[in-house]
Amino acid sequence: MSDTPARTLVGPAEALPDGQQTAVDVGGTSVVVVNFEGQFYALRNNCTHKDFPLLGGDVSMGRITCEKHGAKFELATGKARTLPAVKPVKLYRTQVEDGQLYVSEL
Ligand code: FES
Repeated sequence: MSDTPARTLVGPAEALPDGQQTAVDVGGTSVVVVNFEGQFYALRNNCTHKDFPLLGGDVSMGRITCEKHGAKFELATGKARTLPAVKPVKLYRTQVEDGQLYVSEL
């Protein structure tokens, strides 16, 4: 057994250029993966205010906006930065290896 945690293949990193986002299933949980300024971020695809997906939300200044009521979450930490959400959203690890983008539990 290796020590490498189970990871989920998102796809070729180049298929997710700057400003793009997608969602993958990680062990039954939907995770939104975002390329913001060339850096990959992964967060649980679920706003902590009400049950609403973050996928498709506007991304700017390192934050993704929930389209439902406008809460903003910091991509790097998952912290809620704008009401009505107060709880952080769960973060995942992103990894690029041999041009392939992976997401795994932190
Ligand atoms: S459901 Fe996301 S801000 Fe209300």
